[in-house]
This record gives sequence, structure tokens and C-alpha cells, in this order.
Amino acid sequence: MAARERRSPHHRPRLRHRHLLLLLLLPLLLLFFPLPPLSAVLLRRANSLGRRCLPLADDHRALPGQRLSFSIVTLSDEGLSGRGARGRSFRGVLAATARNKRAYAAAHGYSLAALPPGAVDPGRPPAWSKVLALRARLRRHHWLFWNDADTVVTNPGISLERILFSVIGHSDFDASPDLILTEDVNGVNAGLFFIRRSKWSERFLDTWWNHTSFVQFGSTKSGDNAALKHIVGHLSPEETQAHVRIAKMQCLFNSYPWVATWKSVHRLIFHPSTTWKGVYSDGDFMVHFAGLNDKRGWTSKVLREITPS
Ligand SMILES: *[C@@H]1O[C@H](CO)[C@@H](O)[C@H](O)[C@H]1NC(C)=O
Repeated sequence: MAARERRSPHHRPRLRHRHLLLLLLLPLLLLFFPLPPLSAVLLRRANSLGRRCLPLADDHRALPGQRLSFSIVTLSDEGLSGRGARGRSFRGVLAATARNKRAYAAAHGYSLAALPPGAVDPGRPPAWSKVLALRARLRRHHWLFWNDADTVVTNPGISLERILFSVIGHSDFDASPDLILTEDVNGVNAGLFFIRRSKWSERFLDTWWNHTSFVQFGSTKSGDNAALKHIVGHLSPEETQAHVRIAKMQCLFNSYPWVATWKSVHRLIFHPSTTWKGVYSDGDFMVHFAGLNDKRGWTSKVLREITPS
């Protein structure tokens, strides 16, 4: 909770009242007209309805005097061959999203580290690999940007510098916080986040890796996100203030597609604001197929949508 309360000052969107109206209207619409498809259409248009994930362009201020080195760290499809049907079905996703990341990184001059899943420590579910992979690369770049495999850059015109600037509010690397997260209805999300080169970050990643009691096998959850949530939730307010930022808008770099299921309709009614802040809409920087089963189908659908024909 401390993390929620301590955020850097943000520019309030001008269209706040219209937002509030919409937030009130959406659940009402659902109550009176059980029309989840209509909600899907409306939510998909969130940005044209006035939502702002990124403050209006201030690129010139976002550019630091010194050019910072960024690395996008993600999973590759190497090492998956010959693993049977399940490995192969995941393989299409990894190959497609890794290609998307490669193009984005090349366009902006960022490095890309795509690691084979499970290569880091086969003793834990692959999702845990991120912790050691980031730890091993932490000293080589100013910032690392972790990307789960089921994520796609949907607006490559947006730079990582601009995203960080919008959260941190300045471009002084030495005075920056170390961990930049987003939160969804479940709390902070480990699928996409930034971590800065620092002693604090080294200790943070070691602590995260050491939360062995959170490791889970055999379900859709592997425990790494729960461990992250636990650690961030137990920092002192002072430590949170100095080292952690949670983006005010989840859609800044971690948007989720809205699919008309009972669960998402329930969330829309009871957490309209969280849904609104995180729903994937045209123009968003990145989409994350969190919790969706058909990752392969979603990946090709979104890649088709964003590729100019
Ligand atoms: C993590 O665990 C290792 C091995 O038990 C220990 O040496 C190290 O000090 C721990 N680090 C942190 C930050 O908890």
C-alpha cells in the first residue's frame, strides 16, 4: 500500500471530468444493457475518448544531456526445439514477439538480450529466469527493461526515455528511482518493468531471487509476481519513496486487451478505474496478453493490426 501512496507528482489530465463521467457511465451501461461487446468497443477506443497514458509530447525535455544505455531483456525461442507440442506452440509466440522487440530496439538504438527460456535456472519455472537474467546484465546498461514473452510493442514511435521521463519527472540518472512498475487489479505486475543500474537494484534482485518460498510449479502462476508484490509491499515508506515508482497509468507501458468474459465484466463493474487505466487501446505503447490463453492467436492478431498493409 505504501507504494500506492508515494508517487511522484503527475500532471492531472485535463479531461478528468469527462473521465469520471465515463467511469460512472460504463458500469451503468452494463447494468442496464448487458452488452459486453459494446464495452469492448468503447474500451478499445479509450484513447480517442480522452484517456491519456503519456503526457503530451515533451520529448525535448525527456532527452538527458548524456545518452543513456538501455537494454530490453526478454525470452527468445532458442532452446525450445525438440520439446514436443507444448514447446512448439509457445515457440511461435516467442519468435514473433522477439522479432517485434528486435525491430523496436534497432530503431531506437537500444540493446536487446533475448535469452533461452529456462536457461538460467531449470530448477524454477521459466518466469523466474528474469531475475537472474537482469541481475547478470545490471551493470552493463543504465536501464534494463524487462519484457515477458507475451508482450508486443504496438507504438514503436514512443521511446523508453520518454516513458521514464513521464514517470520520474526529470532526466537526472543519478537522482532517479530504481524500479518503475505498473499495477493492475491484482497489484504490481512483473511482466513489464524498468530497473536501474544501482547497488539498491542489485540487492533488490538478490532479495527477489531469495524469496524461494514463493516458487510455484504446475499452475499458471509461477510465484515470481507474488514475490515481487510481497517485497514491494513490505518496503518502508522511505525506501519506496526513494527507489520505487508506480506509473499512474498502467497503459503507459503495460496495456491488457479487454475480452468480454464474466471475470472481466465483473472487474469492469467493480474496478472501472483500474480497468480504464490499463485497457489496451489504439496508440498504446505496449500490449501484454496477461492471463489470456491463446497467446499465439492474440500475438498474430495484434501484429496484423499494427502492421501497415
Ligand atoms: C540471498 O541468499 C544467499 C544464499 O543464501 C545469501 O548469501 C545472500 O546474502 C542473500 N541475499 C539477499 C540480498 O538476501
